[in-house]
Amino acid sequence: MRLNHAFGTAAVALLGSGFAQASDESVRQVAIVGAGAAGSSAAYFLRQFAAEAGVHVNVTVFEKTDRIGGRTLTTNPFNDPTQRFEQGASIFVKVNHILYNAMTEFGLSPSYRDADVDSVMGIWDGDRFVFTIDQNAPSWWKILKVIRKYGISGPRKVQHLTATTVAKFLRLYEPQFFPFESLTQRAEDLGLLEVTGVTGEQYLEANDVDARYARGLVQASTRVNYASNLAQIHGLDTMVSMAADGALAVEGGNWQIFHEMIQRSGAVVALNTTVIGIDKVSDSTTSQQRYAVQTRSGSALDSSTTHPVTFDHVVLANPFQFSGISVGEGVLETAIDEIPYVQLHVTIFTSPYRLSPEFFGLPTSAKVPGMVLTTLAQSDTPSSGVGGVGKAGFLSVSMLGQATNPQTKRREYVYKIFSPEAVTPEFLSRLLGRSVPSGFTGSDSPISWYLPHVFNSYPRALPRVTFQDPVVGAGVYYTSGMESFISTMETNALMGKNVARLVVDDMQGATVAKSKNGLAWEEKQSILV
Ligand SMILES: Cc1cc2nc3c(=O)[nH]c(=O)nc-3n(C[C@H](O)[C@H](O)[C@H](O)COP(=O)(O)OP(=O)(O)OC[C@H]3O[C@@H](n4cnc5c(N)ncnc54)[C@H](O)[C@@H]3O)c2cc1C
Ligand SMILES: *[C@@H]1O[C@H](CO)[C@@H](O)[C@H](O)[C@H]1NC(C)=O
Ligand SMILES: *[C@@H]1O[C@H](CO)[C@@H](O)[C@H](O)[C@H]1NC(C)=O
Repeated sequence: MRLNHAFGTAAVALLGSGFAQASDESVRQVAIVGAGAAGSSAAYFLRQFAAEAGVHVNVTVFEKTDRIGGRTLTTNPFNDPTQRFEQGASIFVKVNHILYNAMTEFGLSPSYRDADVDSVMGIWDGDRFVFTIDQNAPSWWKILKVIRKYGISGPRKVQHLTATTVAKFLRLYEPQFFPFESLTQRAEDLGLLEVTGVTGEQYLEANDVDARYARGLVQASTRVNYASNLAQIHGLDTMVSMAADGALAVEGGNWQIFHEMIQRSGAVVALNTTVIGIDKVSDSTTSQQRYAVQTRSGSALDSSTTHPVTFDHVVLANPFQFSGISVGEGVLETAIDEIPYVQLHVTIFTSPYRLSPEFFGLPTSAKVPGMVLTTLAQSDTPSSGVGGVGKAGFLSVSMLGQATNPQTKRREYVYKIFSPEAVTPEFLSRLLGRSVPSGFTGSDSPISWYLPHVFNSYPRALPRVTFQDPVVGAGVYYTSGMESFISTMETNALMGKNVARLVVDDMQGATVAKSKNGLAWEEKQSILV
């Protein structure tokens, strides 16, 4: 545990002024650390639940960067804010109720696949395309194409498994299951531990899904969605990867949902403000426990200050292991486990050229599919990490759309590459069939604009049957335990909403006995049938 004497004294000294400032004793102070999907949703629903309950909250959101959205990150080719493409989280689906309802309520518009990109999707195994399909073809034709290649039974079984799994998950939104103090308990209640407890490969095999279909189409989905082969990802994330029918995004950028949530929450937002320490302080007059938060400003890296307000509740809304927060004695009653994350390189670039057919072993006259997913070659061993990418060498390359080059005023292609390692000029030269200089761009480069980004994108979702629960201390909550279960914008927003509910219940002194003890036997029966 951190021992910071100077800070301790400062915190106690400031505590008095914090109380004095909040002259209205009934105002409950809540700190949210992180303004991604989870933190924004927590702020938004806190306001709503508090208003309904008639409690007064003052929410402060601390965000390290100078923007809202976290891993939901919209990028502007040629640094032109009117040209927008997702470099982080890009899609969601209609049954993502929190996102979809927020989008609709906030007057934001959905956008579906860009019409001016090539609609063909191909799965490449490093040697050849094992499958291609035109996504704009009528559904009967697409179904026929899949059946001709993989038979009818595999696709039908996977579709059924996906539908039943999604239906089980969606019950988490129902009053009977929401809120929850234990994610592990809920996963068990909903019969989802048997899906998270095995690999996607085992889960599909146990359900008699044809191995060729699993290794081809399903694995291409887990690789593009979670940078993982089927043998290294649990069954639930595998099913989530297959539940992308009707995928959509917010016109102009997904981050707008979270920005608007924060706006409407009425929270005080401290951007460029990194939380570096949290300590428990007790108020001698009321003997109440509160939390002091130490921050550092983004521009002044060596100076730290103690935030003038102390907090009744703290919501940690980011993966704790990367947050750089040191917590004082007694803040965490449950340790937050470190979990392995995938390091993903997401590279966006523009070029007037199409991808080289030769790179993919296609005839010179052939057109490379607009979306290239990958799977393992016959000769590959399915290992995890960088080696797990196999002969293909990358996870996906897709044409996102077109952007106008301000210099030439011409429309160019916008590409996105997912890879486990940084993309090199040598690789790009082969991919485009033209020499890319060591600086990537320049007057003689086929690449006109280039922006790589490295994310700790999501956990390596190895099978597991226990999850970090959201209550980690007295009045201290944590949202990212959700990520080992399912890592998406929606699930993290759901966890933010769940924590908001728990905080307000706590303020009202309600004991949510049900979630702690699990469900009654009869309730379980009704779910399982
Ligand atoms: C490349 C990529 C593609 C993805 N694709 C999809 C997709 O298509 N669909 C989908 O639903 N999901 C997708 N995901 C997953 C999705 O982005 C995440 O699950 C979700 O956005 C996580 O939200 P969060 O709020 O939990 O965390 P984050 O978005 O990581 O937000 C945490 C915030 O906390 C801030 N922070 C961290 N430490 C501190 C500190 N000490 N003090 C103050 N602030 C701090 C960070 O700056 C950040 O803004 C993708 C992720 C990546 C990386
Ligand atoms: C609300 O929180 C902000 C930031 O933490 C603080 O400046 C403000 O004084 C607080 N307001 C009340 C009424 O407590
Ligand atoms: C955050 O820091 C960046 C870079 O130092 C600066 O450009 C921006 O104006 C700052 N934003 C806020 C809200 O302080």
